[in-house]
Amino acid sequence: MRSRVTPLFNETQIATRVKELGELITRDYAGKDLVVVGLLNGVFPFFADLVRAIDLDPDLTFMQASSYHGGTDSTGEVVIKKDMDRPIQGRHVLVLEDIVDTGLTLHKVRNLLMDREPASLAICTLLDKPSRRKVPVQVEYIGFEIEDHFVVGYGLDIDGKLRNLPYVGVYQP
Ligand code: IMP
Ligand code: MG
Repeated sequence: MRSRVTPLFNETQIATRVKELGELITRDYAGKDLVVVGLLNGVFPFFADLVRAIDLDPDLTFMQASSYHGGTDSTGEVVIKKDMDRPIQGRHVLVLEDIVDTGLTLHKVRNLLMDREPASLAICTLLDKPSRRKVPVQVEYIGFEIEDHFVVGYGLDIDGKLRNLPYVGVYQP
């Protein structure tokens, strides 16, 4: 499978950008009650690296939303498979995502979390594919903007595989 992957961002490029994002987030949330919510499954390497680059003591938790049932295209239907186990009313919430594609997942998650009346809600994604957007979604922190490619690695999968690649690459089916 790895032979079908053309590298796009290597480990050093990712680490450098993650460190920069961590510094921005540290500056923006200093002195605030911060809850960082990772969207499983794809976020796990990005979450692990980014939270360690945040020089604060955020409450860390996870959610799982699924819009994606195998293959390289999203079905458009978003289901919350696992909700977070933290109250967020009056707290500052930062949602971490691996990639924003159609925007449907984060549109749903943002609406769901806004109903709980957080003090603020922001989104941080490692990758953004703006040309694929079906619904507008506000994203405050973006690691890298990419063209319309199907990418794998560093958490991103094709049918559950290649999440463990330490770099991000374009997958050629
Ligand atoms: P959405 O289309 O913005 O709702 O994105 C939904 C989800 O689709 C993302 O969180 C990823 O899990 C998955 N996804 C979108 N684009 C890619 C890709 O290029 N590679 C792997 N997964 C992707
Ligand atoms: Mg995902």
